[in-house]
Amino acid sequence: MGSRRRRRRIPRLPPVDDPAIGETLVSREDLRRRVAELGAEISRDYQDRDLVMVGVLKGAVLFLADLMRGISVPCEIDFMAVSSYGSQTDSSGVVRILKDLDAPIAGRDVLVVEDIIDSGLTLQYLMRNLRAREPASLEVCSLLTKPERLRVDLSPRYVGFEIANRFAIGYGLDHGQRYRNLDYVAALAQ
Ligand code: IMP
Ligand code: MG
Repeated sequence: MGSRRRRRRIPRLPPVDDPAIGETLVSREDLRRRVAELGAEISRDYQDRDLVMVGVLKGAVLFLADLMRGISVPCEIDFMAVSSYGSQTDSSGVVRILKDLDAPIAGRDVLVVEDIIDSGLTLQYLMRNLRAREPASLEVCSLLTKPERLRVDLSPRYVGFEIANRFAIGYGLDHGQRYRNLDYVAALAQ
């Protein structure tokens, strides 16, 4: 019965009309292509391993959900939530764990999935914390990096896009908890 029914097109969301949304930094087409590429690369690298993807809440949720769809090897997901003390647009490196992992990671192959590495201070703390739990391996996959802003010695194994020093919103990234629902990455208008 379903097959005889005409396929209805899912309507595209109207563009979010908000003057705070500036120029496009990464289009939806580029996101789709690159996230699929990363999924394929991770699938190759983690064959016969024990992959646990650790999403950093809340920003990495959209990225992790899309990335997982492109992963063809067995994997689990877990989440951590951290808050970094600082101003609205700058982190301080003083990090508080708001939600810890559900399960131990000792002896497992952990891939931390982040939305963006800015100064790198939050991730540096997180990596130190996770390394102490003795995973078999510990790598990072970040959708975005801002090379100009990096203040610590971090080299994520997988990076989606390097972006200029602009505050990014959309595709999980927020400003004051809003704009995560945009399906592309935009700059916050100055
Ligand atoms: P970092 O400690 O300076 O690397 O910043 C860490 C966190 O700050 C990221 O995981 C994001 O949650 C947030 N953040 C940094 N830059 C941006 C941005 O351009 N847009 C939205 N959030 C950001
Ligand atoms: Mg984050």
